[in-house]
Amino acid sequence: MSKTRNKVRMGMVGGGQGAFIGAVHRSAAAIDGEIELVCGAFSSSHENCLTTGRELNLASERCYSDFNTMFAAEAQLPPEKRMQFVSIVTPNHLHYAVAKAAIEAGFHVLSDKPATFTLQEAIDLKAILNQHNVLYGLTHTYTGYPLVREAKDRIAQGELGTVTKVVAEYSQGWLAQPQDSSNKQASWRLDPSRAGVSCCMGDIGVHAANLAEFVSGLEITRMCADLSPVVSGRQLDDDGNILMRFNNGAKGVLIASQISVGEENNLNIRIYGTKAGLEWHQQEPNTLTIRYNDKPSQVVRTGVGGFSPAAAGSMRIPAGHPEGYLEAFANLYVDFANQVREFDNSDKYVNLASIIPGIDDAIRGMAFIENCVAASQANEGWLEFKLANVL
Ligand SMILES: NC(=O)c1ccc[n+]([C@@H]2O[C@H](COP(=O)([O-])OP(=O)(O)OC[C@H]3O[C@@H](n4cnc5c(N)ncnc54)[C@H](O)[C@@H]3O)[C@@H](O)[C@H]2O)c1
Repeated sequence: MSKTRNKVRMGMVGGGQGAFIGAVHRSAAAIDGEIELVCGAFSSSHENCLTTGRELNLASERCYSDFNTMFAAEAQLPPEKRMQFVSIVTPNHLHYAVAKAAIEAGFHVLSDKPATFTLQEAIDLKAILNQHNVLYGLTHTYTGYPLVREAKDRIAQGELGTVTKVVAEYSQGWLAQPQDSSNKQASWRLDPSRAGVSCCMGDIGVHAANLAEFVSGLEITRMCADLSPVVSGRQLDDDGNILMRFNNGAKGVLIASQISVGEENNLNIRIYGTKAGLEWHQQEPNTLTIRYNDKPSQVVRTGVGGFSPAAAGSMRIPAGHPEGYLEAFANLYVDFANQVREFDNSDKYVNLASIIPGIDDAIRGMAFIENCVAASQANEGWLEFKLANVL
């Protein structure tokens, strides 16, 4: 008789009615049928939490007033019922406190970015993780796209030769006007007490930096930055341009902007090497272009042809049926859920190799944000990229 495979049980902190990304996470988590949402502390308002839970068909006793109560109560439930991991989708200032409480209560953590409020918190989180037997993942969404994984693999296989230049751009226009500052998602992103030291770099620049390092396989080592609030009256940057150097000597440019009128979610990356270049655009995610100087370009499309295992395993439907944002998120969720299942079903610690960004990426992301701000404030040209406090 075949044994039933249980779904992996997830709790959520944040993502109440009116929130943006929580519902995206829940949809993505549901795509492969491997994960069941069993509880939540969806909002700082218990009423909102209960309403959200009702809409999701959760029992009211598993819609908690706050995350500490949730972790304590879930830990008391029988192992086959309690949540196994928590998805963190609150504004940035809460990520560390929620992750720390979850880890200390023995729950795995899948957090949205930026990992924490400060770099020091991310460093502290790693120390806490080192003392507990749980998994930690960070939802840098764009690492879940099949052709981003394919691009990473092709560079690792040497198809581009030695990487010499990286150009990453993340342009949006939704904060271009002064009145844009007051919508729900903008208000905390522009508030230093809830967003951190940066709006634009913390919100989207960090995705572009992660994508640049993930795909190229390189690490940023130096930077020269120019961040500013373009819309007057804002305390945090809404735009920034960064020059970068990488650990193999490659040069790079990173543009992140929330005031580029008319831009939607224009994340794109171009990487050039000694033999070829490649290009990927998030708004056209099922196409990867490889360019050469001495032969025609190659257009790689999802679902057509042979792919690296990481890319092939990230595609669900036949060619010509677009896969996008939800599926990329779903790839992170299903990979993480599989790890949680394997981890929780084994008696001893297993160190699972993973393509999902983890705590070291969390630290590098927070370092990127703080190094950008420090470099821009110093206004003195190039600064070393440090994985220690620079502000
Ligand atoms: N990976 C991505 O592509 C991506 C995209 C968007 C946002 N994000 C990240 O997701 C996080 C949330 O962003 P958003 O745009 O959904 O914000 P949002 O303001 O729309 O939602 C935040 C939610 O957190 C809840 N919340 C606030 N305090 C809480 C508390 N103490 N306990 C429980 N819930 C609480 C709010 O009630 C709300 O439901 C941010 O860290 C952001 O950087 C990531």
